[in-house]
Amino acid sequence: MNAGYRIAVVGATGQVGTLMLELLRERGFPAREIVPFASERSAGTILEDGSVVQPLTEETIQGFEIALFSAGGSTSGEWAPRFAAAGATVIDNSSRWRMQEDVPLVVSEVNPDALTAHRGIIANPNCSTMQMVVPLKPIQDEAGIERLVVSTYQAVSGTGRRAVEELLEQSHAVLHEHQIDAPQQYAHQIAFNALPQAGSFAPGDDHTDEERKLINETRKILGDQSIRVSATCVRVPVVNGHSLAVNVQTRRPLSPERAREILSSAPGISLLDDPGAGIYPMAIQATGHDEVFVGRLRRDPGNDMALDLWVVADNLRKGAATNAVQLAEALHARGLVRMGDGATV
Ligand SMILES: NC(=O)c1ccc[n+]([C@@H]2O[C@H](COP(=O)([O-])OP(=O)(O)OC[C@H]3O[C@@H](n4cnc5c(N)ncnc54)[C@H](OP(=O)(O)O)[C@@H]3O)[C@@H](O)[C@H]2O)c1
Repeated sequence: MNAGYRIAVVGATGQVGTLMLELLRERGFPAREIVPFASERSAGTILEDGSVVQPLTEETIQGFEIALFSAGGSTSGEWAPRFAAAGATVIDNSSRWRMQEDVPLVVSEVNPDALTAHRGIIANPNCSTMQMVVPLKPIQDEAGIERLVVSTYQAVSGTGRRAVEELLEQSHAVLHEHQIDAPQQYAHQIAFNALPQAGSFAPGDDHTDEERKLINETRKILGDQSIRVSATCVRVPVVNGHSLAVNVQTRRPLSPERAREILSSAPGISLLDDPGAGIYPMAIQATGHDEVFVGRLRRDPGNDMALDLWVVADNLRKGAATNAVQLAEALHARGLVRMGDGATV
């Protein structure tokens, strides 16, 4: 093996990009150079580690083995194929490539074998889907999954840095009895509110794109198009950490006790489940951690074949940056990183 990869981080000034830079270093990923990229607005900015933010041009994208993208769908649409054509293996956080048939959509604990089929671009799933499928996979292996009914309580950091600022500004204005500026990030005020619209409605669709992602990506990752999924995605005034109420109907009987047993030994999961003592996962406690927290595990009193779960994770970490870096680690461990000329090692 070489002394490490030359890695591009595209969207390096954003929430997810900043964390990816941190995680690559913290986890000791083999890198000989890490080059940050962002928009023209930030080009030339010097980051804390002394590296200089680069603009995306045909010249600057040459010579990388790995490119981690978190700069939105249109940037990925344009530049991920260019990085791949220049020889890099791309791991993309946006929704742009996720449902494309020849693009693996991978969660490191769930379907890492899908990486083998990559052709230069690998997609990192939507944050809510990501954290949900981590506990669903061991349940699927044990008892099959027939149907999911999911309600999300999604933090504003999932929308981007500007949405966090908007929540804090609006909250400050309400508490100080100031006039609230017109919302820019959401259709309505998010402070002290709950919006039954996470994402946007395509013309003629009664589900948001976020709900469609949860439905379609779950089936693709779990490799079962017959799973029925009902989803309502709600934006709540939480800064960071998505929470999901998940009702899972299995194909074969599964007791809460057995589910607890399999989830407590499954990778990437921390079971926090003693509700009488006030112990269950919460967004403020999950923030800053890489695993998915599961609690409130119980039998659905309305359905002998269903269980209810409460699933919480740091959407910027496991929901985005952590999984992206874990995928880079898995590619490295499996010799699946392209070495600049289309060959893999
Ligand atoms: N936040 C989450 O929980 C989450 C979870 C999963 C996936 N994602 C995905 O990750 C991506 C970034 O999310 P985020 O929360 O980190 O957003 P963010 O904080 O708003 O950061 C966006 C980043 O993209 C860069 N960028 C924007 N337009 C660009 C362009 N035309 N060319 C190059 N770079 C450009 C920005 O650079 P400047 O600083 O120069 O503007 C910044 O570095 C999105 O695709 C999002 O869907 C986010």
